[in-house]
Amino acid sequence: MKMESIPSGGPMMINKLKFWKTSKDNDALEERINALKELPMPKHVAIIMDGNGRWAKKRALPRVAGHHEGMKRVRRITRLASKLGIEVLTLYAFSTENWKRPKNEVEYLMKLPGEFLGTFLPELKEENVRVQMMGYKDVLPEHTLNAVGKAITETQHNNGLILNFALNYGSRDEIVRAVKNIIHDVRAGKLDVKDITEANFSDYLMSHSLRDPDLLIRTSGEIRLSNFMLWQLAYTEFFFSDVLWPDFNEENLVEAIEVYQQRSRRYGGLKSEGEEEE
Ligand code: FPP
Repeated sequence: MKMESIPSGGPMMINKLKFWKTSKDNDALEERINALKELPMPKHVAIIMDGNGRWAKKRALPRVAGHHEGMKRVRRITRLASKLGIEVLTLYAFSTENWKRPKNEVEYLMKLPGEFLGTFLPELKEENVRVQMMGYKDVLPEHTLNAVGKAITETQHNNGLILNFALNYGSRDEIVRAVKNIIHDVRAGKLDVKDITEANFSDYLMSHSLRDPDLLIRTSGEIRLSNFMLWQLAYTEFFFSDVLWPDFNEENLVEAIEVYQQRSRRYGGLKSEGEEEE
């Protein structure tokens, strides 16, 4: 570094300036967080955490390094979601299509819930977070199921944020299974065809205990749903971010919610009173 680019005072002064900038940034973020709390908060936020592989590639690291960094972001984003009073945070951690990836990557991804919960479960419990999972358990390795099962059991009485992992989840298959189960119940005389409604169809989905997402975030610049909560996202607001998941930070989540709060949700109807028609 050229000497003339260092302000008088040298490296110590640079550190002080960096500290000053960081604490100023933190104050600004805190202000934005407080402003968010003045407006309706999305109650259920769902995230397609994409871009781990590209994050690693940019740094000449193996893909799994991106997943590991992505796992750490899960903790930070969960912490903020909890602080904001969001009720449900659903994270797409592994899709039914992800089994097609190389064996070592799949094995690594299957170890992440264990690593994540092994490290962070005590903190999640302290923060009153309740862990849940939606996805097909039958083909998940035992160690993955054990880690998630332990967290579900140990947090089942918490009533704060629900941290819902979509693990081995696929939406089309979920819908097909729901249809089969409805047919089964009709045949068994438990349900009359004329009584099938959107509401009780939802009861046959894996998300039956949760409200539909209000806000969907997908990171990494990809603009698609990748078989994620197709039924549940019918009226959800979408926010697509170019940021790769391992770089997605508190500020990015705040921005997504700010954008959400500026949108008007009409559910196919007209704007509510007080809002101007365009
Ligand atoms: C997609 O990125 C990401 C995944 C398939 C895995 C997401 C998993 C995590 C972020 C960690 C999960 C953590 C816990 C606690 C379960 P990609 O690999 O497709 O990225 P690319 O499109 O850049 O290749």
